[in-house]
Amino acid sequence: MSALFEPISVGGATLSNRVVLAPLTRFRNDDDHAPNADLAPEYYAERAIVPGTLLIAEATDSSVALGGYANTPGLYSAGQVAAWKKVTDAVHAKGGVIFVQLWALGRVNPGNIVSRVISASTVQENPYPVPEEMSLDDIAAVESDFVAAAKNAIAAGFDGVEVHGAHGYLVDQFIQDVSNKRTDAYGGSVENRARFALEIVDKVAAAIGEDKTAIRLSPFSQFQSMKMDDPFPTFSYIVSTLEKTHPKLAYIHFVEPRVSGGSDRTAAANETTDVYHALWSGPWIAAGGFTPESAKAYADSHPNSLVAFGRAFIPNPDLVARIKEGLPLVPYDRDTFYTAKAKEGYLGYAFAPELKGKYY
Ligand SMILES: Cc1cc2nc3c(=O)[nH]c(=O)nc-3n(C[C@H](O)[C@H](O)[C@H](O)COP(=O)(O)O)c2cc1C
Repeated sequence: MSALFEPISVGGATLSNRVVLAPLTRFRNDDDHAPNADLAPEYYAERAIVPGTLLIAEATDSSVALGGYANTPGLYSAGQVAAWKKVTDAVHAKGGVIFVQLWALGRVNPGNIVSRVISASTVQENPYPVPEEMSLDDIAAVESDFVAAAKNAIAAGFDGVEVHGAHGYLVDQFIQDVSNKRTDAYGGSVENRARFALEIVDKVAAAIGEDKTAIRLSPFSQFQSMKMDDPFPTFSYIVSTLEKTHPKLAYIHFVEPRVSGGSDRTAAANETTDVYHALWSGPWIAAGGFTPESAKAYADSHPNSLVAFGRAFIPNPDLVARIKEGLPLVPYDRDTFYTAKAKEGYLGYAFAPELKGKYY
């Protein structure tokens, strides 16, 4: 039996296995950014078919200003908290553990919902409309929004929050030199570019607990015009700083070099997340392009590790049980990944009949 099916402790919870639902934006939420009561509780609960599985809920707006896409969820209103509570209750009833990913769009905000598009800097190597460079007051306000949303997440019954530091959204825009051209304390050196991410982690951890706080990073992703020439100095600094300042974080989550956002990418021979994993002693999640076989091999060769699945978890709500029992996976259909508010491609994927009796 692979380490993938050995228990591991994450954020005070004991998981029965190390297969994780990766955060997946699906645009199935209501127009007021509350999870849909007829769709979301069932969608998440069915992915907790094996008790003791960790789910990371989709990227969620920390405030109106930090969102900008239609039909993403939020965690800034009482209605959203109540709607998420139905999701977390349904997952907990199955014995699942659920974190939520908190994001801020920054420069990739399409600008059609809120008028102000903010980013680390105005001067950027990217094809986006010129955003407004954030003032120090803006930075403090965004950090407060993350804290408020994290507190709301706990009120909504989540077991913890994952700060979205990946894929070219605002936190990543500060981290990487391709987007951060600031000349103040938040730009320039590695330490300065890391400051915003580390301050958010500090403040969220102070508000809800270090063991309920996590961060996701993607040094290799080219999605949304990202990727530094040499990510190692910056990302190793972030991980080794967290190792010193927050060793009890729930986990650190890294995206593998073979994916960019939600698509495959060809990794260069010298690109690996192992150099970052080596700097961190707590629970570690790797995501991106895993198969059942490669996930088992990864868990067996990387101490304290878990493996998140994204695309494969969409048509296989029973993915954890399928991997455990060696059953084949249903192929995914990219056409319905992002269909706003649709039940199609979201609910209705059947559990494998072979699992009946043992798992459902
Ligand atoms: C439909 C879809 C939505 C996604 N949404 C998010 C998201 O909200 N936050 C995030 O960090 N990554 C997101 N990703 C990336 C996934 O979490 C994951 O890292 C990626 O799909 C690679 O893993 P996989 O090869 O197992 O699919 C998304 C990917 C897909 C396909």
